Amino acid sequence: MTSDLQRWVQEAQATGTLAGLPDRHFIDGVALASADGCTMATLDPGTGRVFAQFAAGQAADVDAAVQAANRALKGSWRDMAPAQRGRVLHRVAELIRANAARLAVVETLDSGKRLVEALGDVAGAANCFDYYAGACDKHQGDSLPLGPDYLAYTLNEPVGVTAHIIPWNYPLSTAARGLAPALAAGCTVVAKPAEQTPLTALMLAELCHQAGVPAGVCNVVTGTGREAGAALVRHPGVHHITFTGSVNTGIDVMRSAAPNITRLVLELGGKSPLLVLADADLALAAENVMGAIFENAGQICSAGSRLLVARSVHGQLLEAVAARAAALSLGHGLRDPGMGPLNSESHLQKVAGYVARARARGVKVLTGGQACTDPQTGQGWFFQPTVLDDLAAFDEAVQEEIFGPVLCVQIFDDLEQALALANGTPFGLVAGVFTRDFSAAHRLARDIDAGQVYINEYFAGGISVPFGGNKRSGFGREKGLEALRSYSKTKSVVARL
Ligand code: NAI
Ligand code: MG
Repeated sequence: MTSDLQRWVQEAQATGTLAGLPDRHFIDGVALASADGCTMATLDPGTGRVFAQFAAGQAADVDAAVQAANRALKGSWRDMAPAQRGRVLHRVAELIRANAARLAVVETLDSGKRLVEALGDVAGAANCFDYYAGACDKHQGDSLPLGPDYLAYTLNEPVGVTAHIIPWNYPLSTAARGLAPALAAGCTVVAKPAEQTPLTALMLAELCHQAGVPAGVCNVVTGTGREAGAALVRHPGVHHITFTGSVNTGIDVMRSAAPNITRLVLELGGKSPLLVLADADLALAAENVMGAIFENAGQICSAGSRLLVARSVHGQLLEAVAARAAALSLGHGLRDPGMGPLNSESHLQKVAGYVARARARGVKVLTGGQACTDPQTGQGWFFQPTVLDDLAAFDEAVQEEIFGPVLCVQIFDDLEQALALANGTPFGLVAGVFTRDFSAAHRLARDIDAGQVYINEYFAGGISVPFGGNKRSGFGREKGLEALRSYSKTKSVVARL
């Protein structure tokens, strides 16, 4: 651990919080309290205790931010030479790295995630800004061949003011993967982080400001979804919404966007299958299954929450996975245990409810299955790493997103059945395939209905790989150069010579 990181961890462990956390909105280049002065609390899931207060935004605060973002649309950001915009975004990446330790400790306190994962998220956020910084001056249009009497070309114009509704499972990562391409495309931004995890988005906005992003270009309004979030997505001054969260809220957001014909990207839930064929490297598969479902305590939209395994290797693989799951230590994220807490008490109840109902239906619980606390303190919202074995295709636990450390196992006898099971939920976000059979892997990659397929490494890729869902997992793509296109509108110009 670096001395910088040690200092922040020690302060957090000694005081339960950090001094100097942001507690106001970031609007038009300054920290602003809510118009009505209201605040709310954020809690540390590892202890279940309040550790900071922040502004509870209302429609008036959202309106101030959207107005600032609209004013800034006409200003220096859009008109800046793209290479210069890129230099500013590279500085954001450098500032994220310079503040990585503090950002990671705050992310752990606010979301519950393990410190090592928070540090990974911070590094990923910096990489994301570097990636789009480098793309600013390469985001070029086309010339269109209409023959000698015409000159025809396309321009990429920024879509305008972009709203970003951010969930609590990856607060900084999701903010960065929305803000960086939007800013690179020349847009202005209003972000609304989740009420459970408002802090790192505010810190990111301050770093953007320090890096030279002009006032009004990058705004953050905190508060609840019902108040701040709903006011933002129905605001007529917003031109594009990127929403990451639950299917039901996504449906509400789509409805709110309709009257204003606001563009949308929806990143919703998943119930992603991880397929292990009979010829797979089982040690590799077991290792990947662990990360796919127990990283971030399973609170990942693209978690590999269904393990689809060939009957002939089911016993061997599940023995390894259940033993490793049972051996994971639980504890406060700052101590870097095997697995951290769930994000909120209500979410813990939701996860526990799925497992209790499965047990009542007679589903076999191979390991785990109980809510618990940090063994050192008796506090926090934890759920044991859990494996539910041999589930039927239409079981509730197979069909619905649990969003916790609960692996649902389904057994198949041949590839046809494996494919039917893989596609047999309302979701289509990602899929993993573990096999040494090149043809089988690529046939499955072709036939599985998902936005991305990982072969022999779950979560393979990075910022350059487009990411998004099919079916009820949403539509539109983030990351990669596709995200730059999401935040641009094409204008075609045709001249008769
Ligand atoms: P949610 O979808 O309600 O919250 C996500 C974000 O939307 C938060 O910033 C929230 O403040 C905002 N929001 C809520 N209502 C809104 C509205 N009417 N208009 C605009 N913004 C609004 O999800 P929630 O309640 O936190 O979690 C429920 C379930 O959703 C989880 O158990 C999980 O299954 C799923 N989920 C999926 C995520 C993903 O990454 N796909 C992330 C978070 C939750
Ligand atoms: Mg919190």
